[in-house]
Amino acid sequence: MSPTSYLFTFEAGPEFPTPRPGQFVNVAVADDLTLRRPFSFAGIPAPGRFDLLVEMRGKGTRALAEKPIGSAVGVLGPLGNEFTLPGADSVSLLVGGGIGVAGLRLLAQELRRGYHRIHALVGARTSPGLLHHVLPSPTGDGEVLIEVATDDGSEGFHGTVAGLLERVLNELDAPARVYCCGPPAMIAATADITAKRGVPCEALLEEMMACGVGACRGCVVATRSGYKSVCSDGPVFDTNELVLEELVRA
Ligand SMILES: Cc1cc2nc3c(=O)[nH]c(=O)nc-3n(C[C@H](O)[C@H](O)[C@H](O)COP(=O)(O)OP(=O)(O)OC[C@H]3O[C@@H](n4cnc5c(N)ncnc54)[C@H](O)[C@@H]3O)c2cc1C
Ligand code: FES
Repeated sequence: MSPTSYLFTFEAGPEFPTPRPGQFVNVAVADDLTLRRPFSFAGIPAPGRFDLLVEMRGKGTRALAEKPIGSAVGVLGPLGNEFTLPGADSVSLLVGGGIGVAGLRLLAQELRRGYHRIHALVGARTSPGLLHHVLPSPTGDGEVLIEVATDDGSEGFHGTVAGLLERVLNELDAPARVYCCGPPAMIAATADITAKRGVPCEALLEEMMACGVGACRGCVVATRSGYKSVCSDGPVFDTNELVLEELVRA
C-alpha cells in the first residue's frame, strides 16, 4: 500500500453486521497487549468480509502485521456512529491526510454506488506517503475525481491538502459536503475553511482509546456542548461542534 501501511482482509462470517462508513472495529492485536486497537472499516470486499488499512505505528500494529495469513483475531464491532450521506445534488469532497484515507475508503465505495460526484483530495508530506491508489478507481458509474497534495511538492499540489481543498471549493460549481480524516491540524484547517464558506463538514477523529465502548472516558474530545467520547458519541463529528483549539492542542 505504502512503505508503512498494509491492507488486511478479515473473514468475519455472515452473522457479522455490515459496517457503515465511519464506523470502526476494536481489534485484539496480540495476546500480551490488553488494550484493543481501533481501526476504521476501510472496505467490504464481499458480504461477511471487511478490509482494514493499517499504518505501522508501534507494538500493536506491528503485531497485527506479523500474524500469519489465516490467523484467528478477536474483533469487537462495528462500533461508533457513521457519516451523514450527502444529498443527491451535492459534490462529496473527501479530504484525507496520510493514513486518514483509511477512514474515508468505505465511504468512497458506498458513495460511488449511489451518488455521482466524488472528489477525493489526498495529502501526505511526500509522494511515497500518498494513499490515493487505495480509493475506488475513477472509472465506472459514479464519477470519482482524485487529486493529491504533498507538503514538499514532490507530487500534485504543492502544499497541504487543506490548501488544495480551498482551491477546489473556490472553483466548484455545485453545493458541497466535506468529509475529512487525518492529523488534528489538518482537521482544524479543513474545519476552518468549510466554516467560513458555510459548507457542511464532518471529521472522523482518531483519538487514543481504551475500552472503546463509552465506559472509561479515556477518549474524550472537547465540543461546544461539553466533552464527548470519541468511541461512543463519535468517531464522526460535525466540525462546527468541535473546539478546534483543544483538538490541535491534545
Ligand atoms: C476511530 C479510530 C479509527 C482509526 N482508524 C485507523 C485506520 O483505519 N488505520 C490506522 O492505521 N490507524 C487507525 N487508527 C489509529 C490506530 O488505532 C493507532 O495507530 C493504533 O492504535 C496504534 O497502535 P500501536 O500499538 O501500533 O501503536 P502504539 O505503540 O500504541 O503507539 C504508537 C504511536 O501511535 C499513537 N497512537 C496509539 N494509539 C492511537 C490511537 N488510538 N489513535 C491515534 N494515535 C494513536 C501513539 O501516540 C504513538 O505515537 C484509528 C484510531 C481510531 C480511534
Ligand atoms: S475509549 Fe473508553 S470511553 Fe472511549
